[in-house]
Amino acid sequence: MKRVLTGIKPTGYAHIGNYFGAIKPAIELSKREDYECFYFIADYHALTTLNSKAEMKEYFYNIACTWLACGLDPKKVVFYRQSDIKEDFELNWILCNVTPKGLMNRAHAYKALVEKNEANGLDRDDKVNMGLYNYPILMSADIMLFDADYVPVGLDQKQHIEIARDIAHNFNIKYGETLKEPMEYIDKNNNTLVGLDGRKMSKSYNNTIRLFGDENELKKAIFRVVTDSRLPGEPKDADCTVNKLYKLFVSESKAKEFEEDLLKGLGWGDAKKQLFEVANRYISPMREKFNYYMAHKKEVDAILDEGAEKARVVARKVLKRVRKAIGAE
Ligand code: ADP
Ligand code: TRP
Repeated sequence: MKRVLTGIKPTGYAHIGNYFGAIKPAIELSKREDYECFYFIADYHALTTLNSKAEMKEYFYNIACTWLACGLDPKKVVFYRQSDIKEDFELNWILCNVTPKGLMNRAHAYKALVEKNEANGLDRDDKVNMGLYNYPILMSADIMLFDADYVPVGLDQKQHIEIARDIAHNFNIKYGETLKEPMEYIDKNNNTLVGLDGRKMSKSYNNTIRLFGDENELKKAIFRVVTDSRLPGEPKDADCTVNKLYKLFVSESKAKEFEEDLLKGLGWGDAKKQLFEVANRYISPMREKFNYYMAHKKEVDAILDEGAEKARVVARKVLKRVRKAIGAE
C-alpha cells in the first residue's frame, strides 16, 4: 500500500489551474485500491498571506467544499484540516533543527519576494515574515508526519518536495533511518495551466478562472482571455490560450476539431463562446455539489473532524518514532 498526501492552502478561491493541476490528479489517485490518501486544507500555511479572520473562513470553506464537490470520497480519503493535527507543529520544530538556513534562502517564494524588494529599492526583507521563510519546513512536516510516498502537486511545488527530501535525508543521517523521503507526483499534461493573460494561472497574477463562480462569472472570465487582433477568417495560432483551455474540457478528437476550426479562421468571439459552453458543461454538475456543501457547512465540519481523528492516529505513531529517534522519549 502506497501513501499519497497533498494539501491546498486557503488563500483564495479555487481556480481551474488548481483543479487540473492538483485536485483532479489527486482525486484520480484516490480511486486506486493500492493507494491510501491523506488530503488536507493547509490553513496554517495560509496565515503567511491572509489578512483577516473573514478571509480565512471564506477561503477555508471554498477549498474544503471544492475538494468534496470534485469527488473526494471521505470514506476512502482521510480528509482533514491541517491545524487540527497538533503533532504537525511539533514535528515542524524538530525539523527546523536539521534544516540549514541556506536551504530556506534558496526557496522560491522567499527568494522571489527578496528579488522583488531589491528591484523596487526596498529593504530586502520587506513583507517577509517568518511564516513565509519557514514555510517549506512546515510543508515537510505535513508530508513526513504521514510517511507519504507520493505528493501530487503542480510543477511550481516541485522545489518544496525536493526540500522535504533534503530535510528527511538530513534527519536520517543524524538520527538513523526514521523519516520517509517523499516523491512529487506531477501530472505531465497539466503541470502549468495558463491564465487569462497567457502567463501561469495564479491567484497572485489575478488571471484566474474561478472554478465555482456562477455561470455568469465563468462567461465573463472566459471573455477576458487575452487574444490577438486577428479578425474572423484569419487563421489563429494553435498555441493560443483559448485553444489550450478548450482542450482541458473535451476529448482528444473534439479538441482536434476545434483546433482545426481555429486554424481555418474561427473568430475569437465564437471560439470563446464555444469554450464557455464546454467549460460550463464540464463544471456544472460539480458546481451543484459545491453549492450543496456551501449551504451545509456543519456537514463539512463533521467530515473534517472525523478525518482529523483518523489522521491523528497515524501522526501520533510517526511522531513517537521521531521522538524516540532524537532521545525525547
Ligand atoms: P496559486 O498559484 O493560485 O496561489 P496555489 O499555490 O494555492 O495556487 O496552488 C494549489 C495547488 O494547485 C498546487 O498544487 C499548485 O501546484 C497547483 N496549481 C496552482 N496553479 C496552477 C497552474 N496554473 N497549473 C497547474 N497547477 C497549478
Ligand atoms: N505549498 C502548497 C501550495 O502552495 C500547499 C501545501 C502545504 C502542501 N502543505 C503541503 C502541498 C503538503 C503538498 C503537501 O500549494
